[in-house]
Amino acid sequence: MEVRQVLHMNNGEGETSYAKNSNIQRKIISMTNSRLKKAILNIMCNNNNNKNVPESIGVMDLDIIDETSRKSGISFPELRISLNDLPGNDFNDIFRSLPSIFHKVEEEKGAENCYVVGVPGSFYGRLFPQKSMHFVHSSSSLHWLSQVPLGLGTNNVMSSLNKGKLYISHTSPSDVINAYVSQFQNDFSTFLRSRSPEIVPGGRMLLSLMGRSSIDPTIEDGCYYQWELLANALSNLVSKDQVEEEKIDSFNAPYYAACPEEVKIAVENEGSFMIDRIETFEIEWDASISSNSSDEKILLSTGQQVAKTIRAVVESMVENHFGNEIMDDLFSVYGDLVDDYIYKKRAVYVNLVVSLKRKEY
Ligand SMILES: C[S@@+](CC[C@H](N)C(=O)[O-])C[C@H]1O[C@@H](n2cnc3c(N)ncnc32)[C@H](O)[C@@H]1O
Repeated sequence: MEVRQVLHMNNGEGETSYAKNSNIQRKIISMTNSRLKKAILNIMCNNNNNKNVPESIGVMDLDIIDETSRKSGISFPELRISLNDLPGNDFNDIFRSLPSIFHKVEEEKGAENCYVVGVPGSFYGRLFPQKSMHFVHSSSSLHWLSQVPLGLGTNNVMSSLNKGKLYISHTSPSDVINAYVSQFQNDFSTFLRSRSPEIVPGGRMLLSLMGRSSIDPTIEDGCYYQWELLANALSNLVSKDQVEEEKIDSFNAPYYAACPEEVKIAVENEGSFMIDRIETFEIEWDASISSNSSDEKILLSTGQQVAKTIRAVVESMVENHFGNEIMDDLFSVYGDLVDDYIYKKRAVYVNLVVSLKRKEY
C-alpha cells in the first residue's frame, strides 16, 4: 500500500466528506490558537528587532500579525502562504474557500498582499526553497506515517503478526510495536530534517498531532481504541462472510500516536530545532457533536456520529484494502461499537502540541 496514493480525506461536501465531518480537527486548531498566536508573535518581534519583517507566514491567524504590526509600528508584511498536502488532496476545494477567508482580513485589516500557493507533496521530504519559511504550522497530520512500518507491509513476512488488529494493541507482539516505534522515529526525524533548511534561523513551527500521554504504546488512551473498535467491526463482518479474516491480519495502519518523550528524542537526535514547549491535551471523541445541530445528526446516535468523523479520515485507505462494497455496513457496525464503548468508558483522543524554534546557526 503506497500511503501517498491511498491516503486522502473524503473529498467534496457530501454526507461522508471531511468538510462536513471535521469538527474535531477544527476544535483542535481552536484549542491550539493561543500557542499559534504566541509563535507568530515571537517571529514578528524577533524579526522586527532585526529590522527584517517576515515575508512568509502560516495561513492561520492573520489578526495577530496585524495586531503586532500596529503595536510595533511596522506595516503589515507581505504574506506568502503555502498550503501543503499529499497530491490526492482536493486542493480545488480549499482554493474555492479562500476568498471568503481572506475577505474579512483584506477589508478590515488592509492585508491585500497575501499570496497563496498549493504545494502538493509529502512533508516527509523537501517542499520549499531554502530559508523561505518563517513559520510552519501542521495540525492533525503528523501522526500519519510515510508508510506502513517497515516489515509490516503487505507481502512481508511480518505483515500478519498483528493478528486481528489494525494498529498496536495489547495483544501485539514486540516486533510489531518496535516496527511502529522505529518508523515514527525515522519519519519524524525526516520531517525535521526536511524543514530544517527551509526555515529561517529563529523561525518557528507549531505542530499538533494525535498522541498519547503514557510511555506505553499499548495504553488505552492514545488514539488506539478507535483502531481496536474498527478491527472489531471488521471481525463482525467476518462472521457475516463479508470480510476475510486474513485481510484484517494483513492490514497495518500507517499511523502512530507518539508520546512527548518520543517527540523529544527525535528533535534532539535531529538537532536543528529547540523545543519551546510540548504539552498534551485531551479531547472527547464526541466533542464535535454538540456544536452541530443539523437535523440528520440529531437522529443519529453519538456513536454513529463519531463513526462519521473517523470514516471521513480513514475511508480511502480502508476501502483500498477491504473494498468499497462493505463501507456502509462497516461504519454502521463501527458506530454501534462506539456507542457501547462510550457508554462504559470516557473516550478521549490525546493531542500533542509541540512548539519549536529553528536554531540560529
Ligand atoms: C486529518 S487531516 C488534517 C487536515 C487539516 N490540517 C485539518 O486540521 O483539518 C490530515 C491531513 O494530513 C495529510 N497528510 C498525511 N500524510 C501527509 C504527508 N506525508 N505529507 C503531506 N500531507 C500529509 C492528509 O492528506 C490529510 O489531508
